[in-house]
Amino acid sequence: MHLVPATDAQKVQRDALTFSEWGKLLTPEEYIVRELRLRSHPWALADMRTWLLCSDEGTVLASCETFRTDSFRRAPDGALLPGDSFAIASVFTEERLRGHGHATRLMDLLASELERQPRAHAALLFSDVGPRIYARSGYRELPAWDWHLPPSPGAPGEGVDSLLCASDLGPALDRMRRPELPFFFWPTPSQLDWHLERGRIYVDRLGCSLPESAGATVGASTALWGLVGRSAELTVLMFDARSPAEASALLEAARREARRSGLSRVVLWEEPGNASLLPLVAGASRVARDGSLPMVRPLRPDVHPPALLPVPRGLWV
Ligand SMILES: CC(C)(COP(=O)(O)OP(=O)(O)OC[C@H]1O[C@@H](n2cnc3c(N)ncnc32)[C@H](O)[C@@H]1OP(=O)(O)O)[C@@H](O)C(=O)NCCC(=O)NCCS
Repeated sequence: MHLVPATDAQKVQRDALTFSEWGKLLTPEEYIVRELRLRSHPWALADMRTWLLCSDEGTVLASCETFRTDSFRRAPDGALLPGDSFAIASVFTEERLRGHGHATRLMDLLASELERQPRAHAALLFSDVGPRIYARSGYRELPAWDWHLPPSPGAPGEGVDSLLCASDLGPALDRMRRPELPFFFWPTPSQLDWHLERGRIYVDRLGCSLPESAGATVGASTALWGLVGRSAELTVLMFDARSPAEASALLEAARREARRSGLSRVVLWEEPGNASLLPLVAGASRVARDGSLPMVRPLRPDVHPPALLPVPRGLWV
């Protein structure tokens, strides 16, 4: 068995098979168009690869995708040392081939391949099938809690300094504090826009409108959000609140944006940096996340992802 990068034709062949798993709300034709559109997004064009596990005869046994993601190690003097991490998505084995260890073999060969990349730091994935299968290949699970807030009436911009739009993603990310940790992942503006692109694909099917804002600022605090997939929710992608009052102001703006856009709720992933603020936000409730369990695996011996590594929703693939 061996691992190979997929050709464009092989990617489309996989799309036809993965439709049954990830094509909800779409026809098979629409799903193929969705996949081509997402693969044409600048972030995917630059940083996405599709991988195939093939038998010695060349039969495709399993597949997945990797998205290169920026990550940083902190030197003893505090300097940030950039490197490449890889977010893994769409691990898939055809139903008739399941239960023979193909996905596990794929993950093991992929880790060996990624370890050989010159700037490799770590691999990250979001499991929808629990931790066990990926733990076998060296991945460790991280906490996965969400905060839900209902929409609320009013003008989204009231109570914040500014509302942001998609062209503000870069400056907004620049305002945000990087984690004070020996290792962390950090998304690019293009990576965050890829999430908004998913929302642009689904909006017509959801009976809502695209949120006019992509986030807000208040004081030194910043949030980025959007419609990011096939759930009619306002999903917070990045959140850096410096005080309980500023956390509340940002989330109140998000709740109003959700109402204005016809979305059912605001969803924010808990991170170590916001965990103490969110219980103080009126109307917010904490729920165990359903799926998307973050799991991380170092790709070199001197990378030590902390037990409480922050994984904002903006890193999801
Ligand atoms: C998950 C999947 C990739 C596993 O492929 P596979 O080639 O059968 O994987 P392996 O043989 O290496 O491992 C199978 C293990 O996965 C587990 N598994 C498969 N689907 C699961 C699910 N929905 N929930 C929990 N565990 C699951 C099996 O129970 C088995 O565990 P065990 O060996 O401890 O008994 C395959 O079932 C699949 O394509 N599913 C649909 C797409 C999907 O959910 N992908 C994962 C996204 S994170």
